[in-house]
Amino acid sequence: MIQEEIAKLKKEKDFVILAHYYVDGEVQAIADYVGDSFYLSKVAVDIPNKNILFAGVSFMGESAKLLNPGKKVYMADDTADCPMAHMVTEERIKEVREQYPDVSVVCYVNSTAEIKALSDVCVTSSNAIKVVKNLDAKNIFFIPDNNLGRYVAKKLPEKNFIFHDGFCHVHKSIERGPLEEAKKIYPDALVLAHPECTADVLELADFIGSTSQIIDYATESTHDKFIVCTEMGIFYELGVKNPQKKFYSVGHRQFCPNMKKITIEKVRDVLENPEKEVILRDEIMESAKKPLEKMLELAAK
Ligand code: 13P
Ligand code: SF4
Repeated sequence: MIQEEIAKLKKEKDFVILAHYYVDGEVQAIADYVGDSFYLSKVAVDIPNKNILFAGVSFMGESAKLLNPGKKVYMADDTADCPMAHMVTEERIKEVREQYPDVSVVCYVNSTAEIKALSDVCVTSSNAIKVVKNLDAKNIFFIPDNNLGRYVAKKLPEKNFIFHDGFCHVHKSIERGPLEEAKKIYPDALVLAHPECTADVLELADFIGSTSQIIDYATESTHDKFIVCTEMGIFYELGVKNPQKKFYSVGHRQFCPNMKKITIEKVRDVLENPEKEVILRDEIMESAKKPLEKMLELAAK
């Protein structure tokens, strides 16, 4: 069985497997650690194994490498990349810094290492409010996700925000009209939404949080029906933790094609023949690690 092959290879070659909640359930099931972007960053710092295999998109593997540079990090599929990570340019950051010299650049982790290298601090969807609140700066340039930026800004009226126009196409495809329809079909279901969703969807949400926070909320809730506004991979863990509860999607477009490139066969192949290593230039390693470490520090306060 492929699961046994993977377990054997992992041991032989001293690998640990990290997976995001958006990859297929079959891959989550063989991972050593599964979580949201923040949890996976924290885990990466203390990994004792020689090698990390990342079942997620490029920016996640890069973050693991930045936070634990002594390890070799391999991607299950090195073409799995988040389009949002490329939605802000280095030029735009420089332009805003020139125009507003006291601005702090707050970078959603869904960004390339090159963009992180030009930022002051990183955030994930689970810690963005706390990190920006704890950040010693009033003027914020929030990149690249417009929806997350506006969500954070609403919670922190004491700060001034400049937004960028980045977005996640998966969360953007979850629209208010179909959500209203779903609410009519399941009137007693609570709506759980990821902050990458558009503001008109977030308005209808009973709970807004990262993937881990959504799972925790549903698990602790006394409700038993939920409409879930985020990528479908989350249904695996929601089901494992809550076999008696019902989870509904809004239509059929909640799939991240990049996360879905990761298959259990590719995980086995990389363990067998480790080839897709994350390599970052030294100067990027140095400067991109700082905003990630600052995130860990401010999120722990
Ligand atoms: P979290 O892992 O913070 O929930 O973010 C989801 C995401 O879009 C990762 O691509
Ligand atoms: Fe990027 Fe959206 Fe896919 Fe997350 S779900 S990896 S933000 S495209």
